[in-house]
Amino acid sequence: MEKIGVGIVGCGAIGPTHARAVMEIEEAKLVAVCDAREERARRLAEQLGVEWYTDYEKMLEREDIQVVSICTPSGTHADMGILAAKAGKHIICEKPLDVTLEKCDALIRVAKENKVKLGGIFQHRFAEESRLVKRLVEEGNLGKIVLANVDMKWYRSQAYYDSDAWRGTWALDGGGCLMNQGVHFVDLLLWIMGPVEWVRAETTTLTHNIEVEDTAVAILKFKNGALGAIEATTSAYPGVYARISVGGYKGSVVWEDDKITFLKIEGKEEEAKVEKPAIAWGASDPMAIPAGLHTRNIYDIIRAIIEDREPLITGEEARKAVELILAIYKSAQRDEKVFLPLTY
Ligand SMILES: NC(=O)c1ccc[n+]([C@@H]2O[C@H](COP(=O)([O-])OP(=O)(O)OC[C@H]3O[C@@H](n4cnc5c(N)ncnc54)[C@H](O)[C@@H]3O)[C@@H](O)[C@H]2O)c1
Repeated sequence: MEKIGVGIVGCGAIGPTHARAVMEIEEAKLVAVCDAREERARRLAEQLGVEWYTDYEKMLEREDIQVVSICTPSGTHADMGILAAKAGKHIICEKPLDVTLEKCDALIRVAKENKVKLGGIFQHRFAEESRLVKRLVEEGNLGKIVLANVDMKWYRSQAYYDSDAWRGTWALDGGGCLMNQGVHFVDLLLWIMGPVEWVRAETTTLTHNIEVEDTAVAILKFKNGALGAIEATTSAYPGVYARISVGGYKGSVVWEDDKITFLKIEGKEEEAKVEKPAIAWGASDPMAIPAGLHTRNIYDIIRAIIEDREPLITGEEARKAVELILAIYKSAQRDEKVFLPLTY
């Protein structure tokens, strides 16, 4: 079978993780990498023995590339994806899908018009433990869910935000601790709990010199009747954990850093398997993330292309967390309850 040729755009922090993930997938072949900064593209290409570009549209001209992995700043994702779709390439898009709903929708629409697959990256959905939490809730094992929340106490230094001009800006980061870091756990919460009816939020910038929030709290009402909360910060030294807890009338579960740390189901106490997380990945160091989950996420998108099916995380799925975070920002800015779906 002919391998699926992959090109990667963006060779900064996460691009190399995509490159290594692609190289682990038998059905895929890394063909080229691209970065506007020549030294980054050249260095990664030389390490991996592939071609490099500084001009993205030139890379898109290659016929041996069938899919492009977008690893550029968040507010460029839709523009990059639209160019790929128009060149007939499938798209792997890092989180968040983009930073406005207009751009997310344009990307989803143009991918469909050009009949290419659009797969989002939310690698934590591919951890066994995340799938178990989803299944427990979905199959009703926890009974009626009453309360579900995200608690992310992470740390990013001012030097992290100063490391590149796009970080901490509304235009290209799209937000702070929620749109960049918290988006993973907002996605998991929505995946597990289903849609949100309304949100009431407060956001603030407490310790960093950035445009966007570094601390946020939101109260949620889910469509299934449960209440919820999202608390997130990148100002809690040294970076503690990201935790999702779900309380139900027949059982409760706590997920922390890809491990289940508490699980009790009425009448099934002996079956509960809990584990301490080995490391609070990503809590202090943006690059301390296990590469294996990216490989699973990218593998699903490659298989979706081969099997001509939708990937597990479609553009519409990846859009959901962006919508909720934008609703949180709107609520905080207007000091009012915001109902979903958001309109623009
Ligand atoms: N899934 C995860 O765990 C995870 C982790 C880190 C970053 N990300 C996401 O990946 C994206 C990139 O983040 P990062 O931390 O790697 O950023 P980064 O700044 O380290 O890298 C981005 C790279 O894109 C390049 N670039 C920008 N515009 C370009 C253009 N027009 N053409 C070619 N290259 C261009 C920059 O030169 C830079 O090298 C962000 O959207 C971020 O949210 C996801």
